[in-house]
Amino acid sequence: MTLANKRLLILPGDGIGPEVMYEVRRIIDWMARHRAVRFEVEEELVGGAAIDAKGRPISEEVVEKAKRADAVLFGAVGGPKWDHLGFDRRPELAILTLRRELGLFANLRPAVVLDPLVDASTLKPEIVRGLDLMIVRESTGGIYFGEPRGIETLPDGRKRGINTEVYTTDEIERVARVAFELARERKKQVCSVEKANVMESGLLWRQTVQALRDREYPDITLSHMYADNCAMQLVRNPRQFDVIVTTNLFGDLLSDLASMLTGSLGMLPSATLGAPDSTGKRYALYEPIHGSAPDIAGKGIANPLAEILSFAMLLRYSFSMQEDARLIERAVTNVLAGGLRTPDIMAPNCAKVGTQVMGEAVVRELDKLVGTA
Ligand code: IPM
Ligand code: MG
Repeated sequence: MTLANKRLLILPGDGIGPEVMYEVRRIIDWMARHRAVRFEVEEELVGGAAIDAKGRPISEEVVEKAKRADAVLFGAVGGPKWDHLGFDRRPELAILTLRRELGLFANLRPAVVLDPLVDASTLKPEIVRGLDLMIVRESTGGIYFGEPRGIETLPDGRKRGINTEVYTTDEIERVARVAFELARERKKQVCSVEKANVMESGLLWRQTVQALRDREYPDITLSHMYADNCAMQLVRNPRQFDVIVTTNLFGDLLSDLASMLTGSLGMLPSATLGAPDSTGKRYALYEPIHGSAPDIAGKGIANPLAEILSFAMLLRYSFSMQEDARLIERAVTNVLAGGLRTPDIMAPNCAKVGTQVMGEAVVRELDKLVGTA
């Protein structure tokens, strides 16, 4: 029996985006054959690819399609070819527009060290073994979107660049709520990160998160940390953290840092969620943390696992398909335990493979796990 179709919008983007997305398509096909779930898949151009084809990084039509879809799976955007363009034309505008137009305010960035990859980290294995932390980054506010912004010319001819960090209590509360809810399913610890020592918006952030915890989440242990200290603590002893909730800019920095604790950007998925409506449905976009990696694009060596794991997150958060999500995650872990490695996570005594072989290996492992091999 096939359950009702689920509508997916796939936006591969630029660089390695299309290559890694191709491997997800194999998994979607596999699910249609073996898991009684069919996805109605549409694909559109975004980023540099859309600039080349249509003159803009994302069209209103694609934004509308994203709203109509049950979930959006994103690849990556950007590359040197488009670096000279202004802020209103750049490929990155595709992802920023989707976050803003769909109200995707909670960006979930897990950093998990899988056992077979414990040696891939640049930190000592005893520091990172078993690491499982979740960064919840606010993603529609703060200095990324705050007004005023711009570059102005002063009367004496000097120029001044301006960006503004702004947060309102409701923006802080809704993202903190996501963090508290996630923590309830985990170790019940949230660390809220800002710079309340130098920024008013940071002080308001701290007070608002604490008040929400006291009012609605007494079962959660809440701590507060300055962002600079948090960067240091993440490298010193990352396993002290369970869920971190932080602002747009600090989350951008800290999630790159945290991802490297795991040894490879090529391994990490992310989810960006909007507010649930009365039926519980929420807009959601899933994407790997890695970028478009123009330096290795087209060579067939990109690691497809982050995009595949993003798809697993999509199953979990948009469709509550926990079992299928876990199945894919287990397949990925098993393939790694079997010694296959793309170049970014290559280790001694492992077999170096390309994008396609890695994708096929995951599908074969899925076959094995459900007994269809
Ligand atoms: C990210 C990226 C984006 C960001 C860029 C591509 C706009 O670095 O998703 O972390 O800064 O948010
Ligand atoms: Mg970033």
